[in-house]
Parts: sequence; C-alpha cells; structure tokens
Amino acid sequence: MSLSDSVFDGLCKVIPGGVNSPFRAFHLVGGKARVMKRGLGSRIWDLDDKEYIDLCCAWGPLTLGHAHPAIVQAVTEAVSEGAIFGAPNKWELEMAERLIELVPSMEMVRFVNSGAEAVMSSLRVARSVTGRPKIVKFEGCYHGHVAPLDAVGKEADESGGPVPLGTTPAVTQDTLLAEFNNIASVEALFQKFPQQIACIILEPVTGSMGVIEAENRFLTALQNLCQKHGSLLIFDEVLSGFRVDTTAQKRLGIEPDLTCLGKAVAGGLPVGAYGGKKELMEKLSPLGPIYQAGTFCGNPVTMRAGIAALKEYSKPGFFENLEARCRYLCRNLAEILRPHQGIVPHCGGMFSVGFGVSQLRHHNDAFQQDTERFAKFFHAALAQGVYLPPSTFDAASISSAHSQDEIDLCLEKLKQAADVL
Ligand SMILES: Cc1ncc(COP(=O)(O)O)c(C=O)c1O
Repeated sequence: MSLSDSVFDGLCKVIPGGVNSPFRAFHLVGGKARVMKRGLGSRIWDLDDKEYIDLCCAWGPLTLGHAHPAIVQAVTEAVSEGAIFGAPNKWELEMAERLIELVPSMEMVRFVNSGAEAVMSSLRVARSVTGRPKIVKFEGCYHGHVAPLDAVGKEADESGGPVPLGTTPAVTQDTLLAEFNNIASVEALFQKFPQQIACIILEPVTGSMGVIEAENRFLTALQNLCQKHGSLLIFDEVLSGFRVDTTAQKRLGIEPDLTCLGKAVAGGLPVGAYGGKKELMEKLSPLGPIYQAGTFCGNPVTMRAGIAALKEYSKPGFFENLEARCRYLCRNLAEILRPHQGIVPHCGGMFSVGFGVSQLRHHNDAFQQDTERFAKFFHAALAQGVYLPPSTFDAASISSAHSQDEIDLCLEKLKQAADVL
C-alpha cells in the first residue's frame, strides 16, 4: 500500500471522511484522496513523492502558485514579529487601501477569515439596512458553509437528503431560489414577495456548476430590479476575485452594492473580506448597530501576505498574461476532448472540464454533465501527473507560476489521459 493511502486510512479513522472540507475527498470520482506534503510554483507532491502539475490550486487561493517568494517572505517576517495582537495594526490600513483601490465599489471593507464569513456578514448587513428578511440566491451558486444558503439548491440535490438537514425550517424559509441567467425567474420572486427581499446574492462567474459567466444583460437587469425595489445586489467574488481579473465586476462592468472576497486575496493565507458603500459599512459595530466580530480578523500575518499578493496582482499585465495562458490551455484541451463530447468553459484564470453537454448556461446544463466520463478522465490525468479538482462541477485554475512550457507539458499529459476515453 502507498504511504499516501495508508495515511489517508489513518485520517479516515479520526476525521470524518478523512478530510477537513468535503470537497477534498474523491467521493464524486471514486478512489482515495491523495495526501500531499509539498507545493512549489505550479507543482505539488504527494507523500509518495509523486509530482503533479496542480490545476486545482487549492480551490482558488493560489493565483500566485505555491510558496511564492513574496508570500513566504511576508509571512516569515510577520510571524517572527508576533502573529496576532488583538489590536489594530498598520498593515490593516495598507491592505484595506490597496484592496479598495483595486475594487472601487468597496468604499470601506472589513476583513474576516473565510469566504463563508464574508458572505454571512454581508447578508446580515443587507437584512439590517433594508429591514427585510428574504434573500434571493441562484440554484447552483455556492456561497460556502452559510446556513441560509447552503442547504438549498444544488447542494441539497447532491446529498439527496432532507432540506434543511441540521437546521430548523426558520433558517431557510427566507431563502428564495432563482435560475441563473434567467431574469424572469427573479422578477417572479419580486412580484410574489413585495417589500420583503433584502438582497440578491450571486457569483458573477460561477465555480461550482462549472464555469459560467453571468450574461451582461442579466446582471444589468438584476441591478435595475434591486434599485427599483430597494434591495441590495451582492456579488460573491470569493472565487472569481483575483482569478478572473481583479474582480468579475471589473470585467463585466457592473458595480454591486456589496462584494464578498476570500481565497486569493491573501496569496494562500486564510482570509475573507466584504465591503461596499460607506453608508452601508458605517452601520457596522462599533459605529453602528450591526454586529460582526472575530478574534483572528485582520491579523498581521494575513494582512502582510495580502499586501504582498495585491502588489503582485497589480503588476502590469498580470491578469492579461494569466488569462492568455488559461485560454491557450482551455482551447487546446477542448480540441483534445471534442471527440469525447468534452467542453472546457473558461474565464480569466478559471476553467472547468465537462462531458456530455454542448454548453453551460445554468444549473440544468451543469447537472446533465456525464460525471462518469469525468471521473475516468480525472483518474487518467492523475496517473499522468495532473491534479484536477475531483469534481466536474468545480472550477480548476492555473496560477502565474504555470509557464507556457508548463502548460504545453500539461496538454501533452492530458492528451495521453484522454486516450482512456
Ligand atoms: C463563491 C464562493 N463563495 C464562498 C465560498 C466559501 O469560502 P470559504 O470556503 O473560504 O469559506 C466559496 C468556497 O468555495 C466559494 O466558491
């Protein structure tokens, strides 16, 4: 038995499913998850020293790749000067100023520790300032481990369990489901629940039903609906932020009222952030009545890593180069997979690999994908030394450490992997 398999067996005895976040398990593709020990640039190594080109990139945070020298230096310096003070630090100021400059719709920002925290805090702001209970979300959009959002839609379909398992009906009774890229489905909810909808939340580029870009006219119509009805528009850019560009809102030309960020913001350190117009954010405690807090929020290690990451992202051509290489990878991979009914939708540095459908527009397309064919391809790619996310629904990505040569090598390996199909 390989060392990775034997350690994974040990993990399964003490940690449910052997993983601290279910995405990491191979339950959607079969087999045992690989146990990793090291990452550098575009590569990761498992416990048996098998080397992989990493196209999972930790599900989003690694836009700079593994162990980027600027992040390693920032973290090392920060830890040696004290990892946490529980009092304001000057790096919060620099980090907030840089982030606000890169995401102009955020006039003020709060840092938290995860994407889920950013989402739940933004919902609280929306409900508090509007005085309304209901939230519109889209089937197939993922927003993290957030009670009003995680037990409805795709997630419930996947687990097949009762909704909402482990919560009371009150937690989700105010969550309304609409269809992505279908404005009529949202208009119907506003008609049915007048003066009750606090906000619409969506991923402007989805990453959990394959990569789907929201259509521009759909986003404009959502913004108009929100303005007409006094509701807030929230973009969950936890996944798209600093991956498709600085943000999808920049790319698509629409500014939401509130933005949630996470993942890539701090170059691989645990972080979340949310922000928007001053008049909304100034309602947060201690200035206003809306409570949100956290011991580790804005700690100097994360802030200094974040500053280093934002400096890298601000270098001229950073996202243009990332996108050009990702586009090259995806177009060539799509050619390789075309005889097998494979598609490779992509946006910026993000992409997904699906089989058996001709396009992705919303969750109905996504859930018609051939998951068995994906599982075969996933394992063949793994054997060739390419680590994809172990699910056809979830977004893969490249980092700035994936050079042109690396992408060409990756394509050769994926071409061989496709032979099993
Ligand atoms: C769009 C989106 N929002 C929120 C989250 C939750 O982020 P975290 O896992 O950091 O809590 C995720 C995580 O995958 C995500 O993809």
